[in-house]
Amino acid sequence: MKLHVGSGSSPLEGWTNIDVAAADGVDCALDVRRGLPFDDVDFIFAEHFLEHLTLAEGSVFLRECRRVLRPDGVLRISTPNLDWVWLTHYKHPSEMSEDEQLLGCLEMNRAFHGWGHQFLYNLRTLTLALRHARFETVSTHWYGESETAELRGLERHERHADLAGAPSVIVVEAVGRRDPEGDFDARIAPYVRDAEVH
Ligand SMILES: C[S@@+](CC[C@H](N)C(=O)[O-])C[C@H]1O[C@@H](n2cnc3c(N)ncnc32)[C@H](O)[C@@H]1O
Repeated sequence: MKLHVGSGSSPLEGWTNIDVAAADGVDCALDVRRGLPFDDVDFIFAEHFLEHLTLAEGSVFLRECRRVLRPDGVLRISTPNLDWVWLTHYKHPSEMSEDEQLLGCLEMNRAFHGWGHQFLYNLRTLTLALRHARFETVSTHWYGESETAELRGLERHERHADLAGAPSVIVVEAVGRRDPEGDFDARIAPYVRDAEVH
């Protein structure tokens, strides 16, 4: 079974397309913050979806993905890159023209709050969020590319010119189960807890 979460208007053939909003091509209208009523899942793909959840909601969702995936199942996530947003929209004010100061302010705020966005990740934070959700290994990929045939050529969302070392979109695949007793950088945990409180 292959789940496509937050499919919106880009359903994928051969996948179970899931979205909170019922629409053409949505096979299962579901708010995934309430859980994923599936098991034995081979693949989960979510493009431009995770940023629509708060850090705490995202953490629950990622844990739920780990729960419903088969032990060798793969989660592929594609989400805007905070590093790219920052580097392309902001500099020290003394290095910005008045126009850049205005547009930098407007566009940074839109990246954080526009289109229903709740939380933007960079690669390090997304990696730790996935490790926090008990995935063992997180690998990065280029848009549309994967070593796994089923996960190749899936991305559809518009993209922007990448910067060296900071692509506009982070694409990762997470696999395996992390040993809960094993070594883990847990610095994300208090931020997830704080996000639950507020
Ligand atoms: C920016 S759109 C992305 C659509 C498509 N994946 C793409 O890349 O073009 C985000 C989608 O996530 C859906 N969504 C947001 N919150 C959701 C939730 N809690 N459960 C399920 N779907 C959700 C929205 O309805 C929307 O269709």
